[in-house]
Amino acid sequence: MNRFLLALFLLLPAISFAQRYKNIDFNSVSSPDGRITVYISVDDGVPYYSVTVDNQPFIKKSRLGFETKGELNLKDNFWALEREKACKKRKPYVWQQPWGENKTIESQCNRLSCGFVKQTRSDRIGPLVLRVDFRVYNDGFAFRYKIYFDDQKNDTILITNELTEFNFANDGTSWSIPANFDSYEYLYREQPLSALDNANTPMTFRTSAGVYGSIHEAALVNFPEMTLLRTDSLRFRAQLASWPDGVKARITRDSIMDFYHWYGFKTPWRSVQIGHQAVDLINSNLILNLNEPCKIEGDLSWIRPMKYIGVWWGMHLGIQSWTMDERHGATTANAIRYIDFAANNNIDAVLFEGWNEGWETWGGRQNFDFTQPYADFDMDSIVRYAATKNIAIISHHETGGNIYNYERQLDRTYQWLEEQGIHCVKTGYAGGLPDGHSHHGQFNVLHYQKVVEMAAAHHITLDVHEPIKPTGLRRTYPNMMTREGVRGMEWNAWSEGNPPAHHEILPFTRMLAGPLDYTPGTFDILFDNTRNLPTHQKWNDNDKGNSRVHTTLCKQLANWVILYSPLQMASDLIENYEGHPCFQFFRDFNPDCDWSRALQGEIGEYVVIVRRAGDRFFLGASTNEEARTVSVPLTFLPRGKKCVATIYADAPDAHWETNPTAYVIEKRTVKRKDVLEIRMAPGGGQAVSFEVKN
Ligand code: NOJ
Ligand code: CA
Repeated sequence: MNRFLLALFLLLPAISFAQRYKNIDFNSVSSPDGRITVYISVDDGVPYYSVTVDNQPFIKKSRLGFETKGELNLKDNFWALEREKACKKRKPYVWQQPWGENKTIESQCNRLSCGFVKQTRSDRIGPLVLRVDFRVYNDGFAFRYKIYFDDQKNDTILITNELTEFNFANDGTSWSIPANFDSYEYLYREQPLSALDNANTPMTFRTSAGVYGSIHEAALVNFPEMTLLRTDSLRFRAQLASWPDGVKARITRDSIMDFYHWYGFKTPWRSVQIGHQAVDLINSNLILNLNEPCKIEGDLSWIRPMKYIGVWWGMHLGIQSWTMDERHGATTANAIRYIDFAANNNIDAVLFEGWNEGWETWGGRQNFDFTQPYADFDMDSIVRYAATKNIAIISHHETGGNIYNYERQLDRTYQWLEEQGIHCVKTGYAGGLPDGHSHHGQFNVLHYQKVVEMAAAHHITLDVHEPIKPTGLRRTYPNMMTREGVRGMEWNAWSEGNPPAHHEILPFTRMLAGPLDYTPGTFDILFDNTRNLPTHQKWNDNDKGNSRVHTTLCKQLANWVILYSPLQMASDLIENYEGHPCFQFFRDFNPDCDWSRALQGEIGEYVVIVRRAGDRFFLGASTNEEARTVSVPLTFLPRGKKCVATIYADAPDAHWETNPTAYVIEKRTVKRKDVLEIRMAPGGGQAVSFEVKN
């Protein structure tokens, strides 16, 4: 039987069901706790969904589907058909990951998969079925499209627009960065939903009904990124990054084969995290739960969380250079100095930027050579020396956006690194992409994926700068450890910088997507030690000569806990750490976290997070421009044990603006029943390490 007839035969009972139920709300699915319900309907041939939270409207009737080029119609003229009953999971499924905020994760959701077939035979050119898979968890919901098509009639589906909508029932306050398909390095805006023109995701909000939420996407592979555009009142529509010819997504026959030899393609999940308090969003595992299990087989011991320092901040401060000249940072002598400091201070790894040839072409031809060290960086002896000290090397690949140049060298480079025992690379894409491609389009999503897979094949972990935003792929490829995708610490070195509240917005926005290489840890907050050095040169146009960090020193410590990254950088020059009592917090810190909990917080105001790593607990609290005292019950500590708390607090007269480096260190024995009063200066914070005593 030919494939078309076979598929039609299999679908016949469902089609007759669908014909009887043309324009009705034809199904719903609720979260295990019953608080969130998603309704699916077809109206005049157009598929829709809507959502209630606690029986109150949350997302009103919102469209589903796509616009395509050519005769294929994924937009309207559909019949609804339900092929699977809503499937209820009674017990949570528990899974483990090799690293993360939490190594053990629970997942429990109810599912409904809805099929939509074409109404008329003549409209059945190409895709036979558009399926939408819904999953509803207690902490939010998500859906993804599956498009099944006949490869004999259609070689490629060209998506020109996504029609997915999020039509809010109530106005509210939102926190987001602008939609931009080339960069995420923006300050956050706090705006009413009704005044927000566009946003990148995660787009976080609190509705006037008191529901906290965040729209994002999960498992972004082989598709362009989604941003949001407000089309009217409280209605937002998905916007996809384009190929240079205007097409958004090219779905080709090399997509997954499935469903009785019909070709099936899955889009990323469109997800909405939902919480009843702001910290519920941080404690949610929705994004990870939507991703596929780990695909890397065998021993994963080469994937390990690390604390690192690096030859890096000096270049951003303008006292060193990436190129090989008299101010060159990555020299053999500096490398040895940094390796020694790491070895003496319980730091696991050292990053070197500007170690390879090609930096003269940065901003021009972007012609970097990823296996050719500069003559004054003696790679062999540095690698040997680091090995004797048990210090890992983090190599660096700035591509300048020249994807073709990087891909040409990829296999050879990763092979070469593996041979030298280097298991971690920081990549970067600071520059425009070739041929009119955008950083976040399908072309580059495919590139980032190629790098992750190549790195995995050579046992290399990644820290990606100028990345595609995280969407939980670290579950599937745990070598994809951390990334930037934020206006990070570097902006403080050469621009008006990041205001204090930036750090109380990030945990509720960017960080919901995944780990962040923000690189906190500046001790010389005002750049007193470098501003007037003879080697200082302005190198960035944003530098107005008044740059500094906009926090207290203790907030820099707290950010090591709050801004989670399995690769956590003490980013300042080692000269600024030598002999500083606060560096003890970084020495003691264990980046290999087992468990985490956001305890308190409000978006843009303050946040308190605790993490456990082995038998130590680390707590970080921070506040915006307002001074604040918060009471934190220590109920997370183990029962019946005494703990020594080392508290790094803002001094009573500390202030981010006028007195940022004043601190007090106190040691105290505490127990689970105690309550810690955390007093923070304006723009300040507090870091505490708890050592459990037997
Ligand atoms: C931008 C990255 O974010 C930064 O960390 C790096 O130092 C520069 N590019 C140079 O590669
Ligand atoms: Ca950057």
